[in-house]
Amino acid sequence: MPATPGKLKTFSACRNPVFIAESTMAKEKTYFECSSCGQTEPKWLGKCTGCGSWNSFIEMKGGTGSKTGAGRSTEKSAGKTEPRPQRLSTINTDEGTRYSSGTSEIDRVLGGGIMRGSSVLVGGEPGIGKSTLMLQLCSSATREGPVLYISGEESAAQLKMRADRLNIKREIEVFCETEINIILKTIDRLKPVLIITDSVQTLYDRDLGLVAGTVNQIKFCTSELIDRAKLYNCPVFLVAHVTKSGAIAGPKVVEHMVDTVLYFEHGDSDVRLLRAMKNRFGSIDEIGIFKMSEKGLNQVDEPASLFLVKRKGEQPAGICTAAVYEGSRVLMMEIQALTVPAKGGLSRIFSDKIDQRRVSRVAAVLEKNLSLRFSDQDIYVNVAGGIKIGEVGTDLPLALALYSARTGIPVPKQTACSGEISLAGEIMPVAHSGRRSKTSSDMGFSNFISPENTSGLKDSINKIFGGEKISQQ
Ligand code: TYD
Ligand code: MG
Repeated sequence: MPATPGKLKTFSACRNPVFIAESTMAKEKTYFECSSCGQTEPKWLGKCTGCGSWNSFIEMKGGTGSKTGAGRSTEKSAGKTEPRPQRLSTINTDEGTRYSSGTSEIDRVLGGGIMRGSSVLVGGEPGIGKSTLMLQLCSSATREGPVLYISGEESAAQLKMRADRLNIKREIEVFCETEINIILKTIDRLKPVLIITDSVQTLYDRDLGLVAGTVNQIKFCTSELIDRAKLYNCPVFLVAHVTKSGAIAGPKVVEHMVDTVLYFEHGDSDVRLLRAMKNRFGSIDEIGIFKMSEKGLNQVDEPASLFLVKRKGEQPAGICTAAVYEGSRVLMMEIQALTVPAKGGLSRIFSDKIDQRRVSRVAAVLEKNLSLRFSDQDIYVNVAGGIKIGEVGTDLPLALALYSARTGIPVPKQTACSGEISLAGEIMPVAHSGRRSKTSSDMGFSNFISPENTSGLKDSINKIFGGEKISQQ
């Protein structure tokens, strides 16, 4: 017997303390089930609120009506053999567990394609392009079967206009509905290969009140959608808005429930970055890089030089190019630093693309090893292209940018580097140094400073700045 949405509904009531109390007090519980759609209610109703049938409720007794999660899983397996543990060696992991999203940048972030039966939370600021990305994803998934796009924010006409703009010709089932039970029934009927809910904050279950976006509503609706995803082996993407501070508001509470959490963020201007913050099926280091155009999001296939600043003439002081290893690719990035005397002598660090603690540590090592004062300076650090970098190999280029800013001596244009700096001023090895060096030379950087060709911070400074006199400004 297939699982019915009505049966699952009992889970909603488990969040209601009144029902829990009732269920523990009563020895044998009575509940009412719609004979037409299977919806359960604690009291008899003349008309089923789920399917609209009249006089369809019949009285039921026993454990299946209990408002517990355990009861829910029992119901799901009703009519099937009792579930048992499986031996690891007997579990099948066939090739068909993933399929390609049609966009290699999305596949990369997901760990090699969309995992069937998985749940993915997609967070991002309003207007960043989540709905656009999801619609493009739907379009390519139609190759696999029916695709359901649940829209709680935009009307069907708005979605059609966006689809026309994106030149999407394939059929997508668009459902502008926010009541979870109605949505679940549609999923049961359609059995799609991909479900998009845009956004999860708009979904609600009427038993939990009519206000969408509360923690209970988000948790419950997500839980129900994840169950359906597993039941039908169909991936579900849950779009979520984030606050200005960057946290996934509200939906943060469901991050532990979903398999993957993706975060869509702004690079500079039209660049958009898709990062995995959690992924049960792949690495969280990968980023997907897109550009927003008039006709939707285009993936950037060769991003190595995307973040480099094309400059005519001399490179100013305070700039150094880093070969950064992000996921499985090397990206060339420009690190910019500026130092100015601190007001009142109290040094402050302004850096939102590189962790302030890293900037502070690198400045301290420079001060100690090169007798160059940073502790009376305000330090500003930026990464061109708007991308955040957390990689250890940024230490050396950051140190060179700071040194250059403080002394006023520019780093030669053709120089790129990568390396971790120890507190003692040594340059420590970083992963994939060979690939960093190769990408640097491919991008026209003839001088690549790495742990392999330098003995320490002082040596790197000498190599790059030669015998130039340090002039503290
Ligand atoms: P949208 O996907 O609606 O963002 P979100 O769902 O995250 O709120 O994208 C909205 C922005 O993207 C809007 O400013 C218009 C722009 N856009 C384009 O530049 N090109 C396009 O092809 C599309 C569809 C949108
Ligand atoms: Mg949207």
